[in-house]
Amino acid sequence: MVNLGVLVSGSGSNLQAIIDNIEAGRLDARIRIIISNVPDVFALERAKKHSIPSLVISHKGYKRREDFDKKIVEALQAHEVGLVVLAGYMRVVTAVLLRAFPMRVMNIHPALLPSFAGTHVWQAEVDYGVKFAGCTVHFVDEGTDTGPIIIQAAVPVYDDDTAETLNARILKQEHKIFSQAIQLYAEGRLEIQGRRVLAKGFPKVPDAFMINPPIEIFDR
Ligand code: GRF
Repeated sequence: MVNLGVLVSGSGSNLQAIIDNIEAGRLDARIRIIISNVPDVFALERAKKHSIPSLVISHKGYKRREDFDKKIVEALQAHEVGLVVLAGYMRVVTAVLLRAFPMRVMNIHPALLPSFAGTHVWQAEVDYGVKFAGCTVHFVDEGTDTGPIIIQAAVPVYDDDTAETLNARILKQEHKIFSQAIQLYAEGRLEIQGRRVLAKGFPKVPDAFMINPPIEIFDR
């Protein structure tokens, strides 16, 4: 059983997926505290609905990111958090948080890192013309979206996609892989070797491949 502290800034659909998986007994974790840096976001409603303790710690009023993170760390430690989960948390975290929770901060990013780090990724993917997109759960380091990768899911990008339709397709996979990554952590199955994270005790995924657009010439 791992004690989670979930940091949010918005709607919290990833938070909801984690809550649902815990309640369904699929995820061996307990959410000790949900912290939002933005007041009145929907993620806080979700916390209330499921009777999970929550807090708002606004970043406004802090001149230095480090001082803000110190407050966050204090709250996480007060709730005996073992793993920090960034679920749509729109703040860059500092060494203050990372030193307090070394290799114990996970983030979800809506792209196949290291491609399309940063924000506004869906439009960037459509504009670039990539044929596959996806999402990544990774441990957080001091860079932006650069930490060791735990799990990724790939989805196709279609010719008629917009940022919105692509976002929706990716988000569905986010809701699965975040919980899977947390469960692997809870089971002690993640082995970190440099920047590689090995998931112990898994059979290899089949050498299946996706090709988009699909190949026709061999079916003729
Ligand atoms: C997701 O796309 C996630 O990848 C990104 O922010 C979005 C948060 O969505 N980090 P939600 O708040 O979990 O609904």
